Amino acid sequence: MTQTFHRGLALMFLTTFVSLASPGASELTGRWVARVPNGDGTFRETVFVLKREGSTLAGSVINPSSEQPFVEGTVDGDTFTFASAPATNPRRTIYRGVIAGDEVTITLVRPGRPDQQMTARRGSDTAGRLPERIPPPALHVVPDNGLARTPPMGWNSWNRFRGSVDEATVRAIADAMVANGMRDAGYVYVNIDDTWEAGRDASGRILTNRKFPDMRALADYVHSKGLKLGIYSSPGPFTCAGYEGSYGHEADDARTYAAWGIDYLKYDWCAAGRLYTDGDMPAIYQKMGDALRATGRPIVYSLCEYGRQDVWTWGADAGGNLWRTTGDIADNWESMSRIGFGQDEHGPFAKPGHWNDPDMLEIGNGGMTATEYRTHMSLWAMLAAPLLAGNDLRSVTPEILGILTNREVIAIDQDPLGRQARRVKKDGDVEIWTRPLAARAQAVGVFNRGDTTALVTIRCEDLRLCGGYRMRDVWTHADAGTLAATQSVSVPSHGVVLWRLIPVN
Ligand code: GLA
Repeated sequence: MTQTFHRGLALMFLTTFVSLASPGASELTGRWVARVPNGDGTFRETVFVLKREGSTLAGSVINPSSEQPFVEGTVDGDTFTFASAPATNPRRTIYRGVIAGDEVTITLVRPGRPDQQMTARRGSDTAGRLPERIPPPALHVVPDNGLARTPPMGWNSWNRFRGSVDEATVRAIADAMVANGMRDAGYVYVNIDDTWEAGRDASGRILTNRKFPDMRALADYVHSKGLKLGIYSSPGPFTCAGYEGSYGHEADDARTYAAWGIDYLKYDWCAAGRLYTDGDMPAIYQKMGDALRATGRPIVYSLCEYGRQDVWTWGADAGGNLWRTTGDIADNWESMSRIGFGQDEHGPFAKPGHWNDPDMLEIGNGGMTATEYRTHMSLWAMLAAPLLAGNDLRSVTPEILGILTNREVIAIDQDPLGRQARRVKKDGDVEIWTRPLAARAQAVGVFNRGDTTALVTIRCEDLRLCGGYRMRDVWTHADAGTLAATQSVSVPSHGVVLWRLIPVN
């Protein structure tokens, strides 16, 4: 008993001594909030949840889109470190911190990227906590909104501008689309992607940040040019860039969009994944589908959940006019061709009003050759894909403009039959795709994914199209004779020959 008492005293003394020796570090336990300005009046919040036990540290890093427990946490005096993953992961982030009073400074060390320093302040117990999970509604079919009878065409800010998009840029893009003939070629939606949002006012109404001072005025301007305005949100509490999402405010936001005069919504899963499983996606997307419908305004509804959960099988029932079938495209041949040539199986699900979306165009962003951009445009046209230009239309070269506004290629994309192309033959690097068009016409694309020119011999049986067709080369705008039993054509590396076949009788 006495011995235990003495041991207890000794332990108390030791603990007091240790905490006196390093008074700051003993207070590490808690929730620390770093707010990094986005430059538009909003902040991106990272919450570090730290729990110190002696010289070890446990906890997690909370970003808008994820909460990740960290590993290898250690404390040494006023300094501490932890890592996002074990050393076997070459892409892990190492966090090095130092505590000074009510602040911790944390440096993120990431391979191949400059170090980033964040200052975090002690936050309340609710910092970084998710709102309560709202149960998904019961499933029903959202009636067809009658829009997008052909795949939507327009422009979207993300691929080129990311977080730097602002009202002046959107106005200038709208001006350019009128001046350079894009609008008259069919590109009508001017879509603002992520980073326009701020928080909400006391009544729950979504606010725009400094970059978009007056969304209604912007919509009026875009409409005055004969164009339509699109916007972006997420069913989660945060968007993918960490801005305010529509979670719990679906009806409010749909009403606000309608009041602003919005014509198109891209709805991006992002942080919804922190509250819901992929299995909940149909119900969660349906919720916004219902909310948009309830506004009475015609608003094209674009589902963006990266092709998970076989979205092509339920996207239309959730009210979707289009649904992403893939992760994000990048401006390079590898990304574009992997996506474009990977769409065959979804083909049967495309129909007027409801389209597969292999992501926005990268044409003109500089990472591919003109030949590769023609392949990009041809593939998307064959796939009946939305044609959303993703480049800076204020400074587009004649060659790129020619690719984007080729009327004959656009006509394939916009064909009223609304059937998507299928791959009919693959021989090494050469792929042949055909697409049935209205009035018994057909589109045929002969693609060469290889690194050298291919001389391709095509038998009409390969196309399953023997019979009387006139051929029209839609890139050279030249008649190409009649379809023969066998046909030889030279296709450049990464290039395409694209024909419209017109029945002779
Ligand atoms: C996701 C989407 C992109 C873009 C960004 C914006 O990555 O797939 O198309 O909207 O979010 O944060």
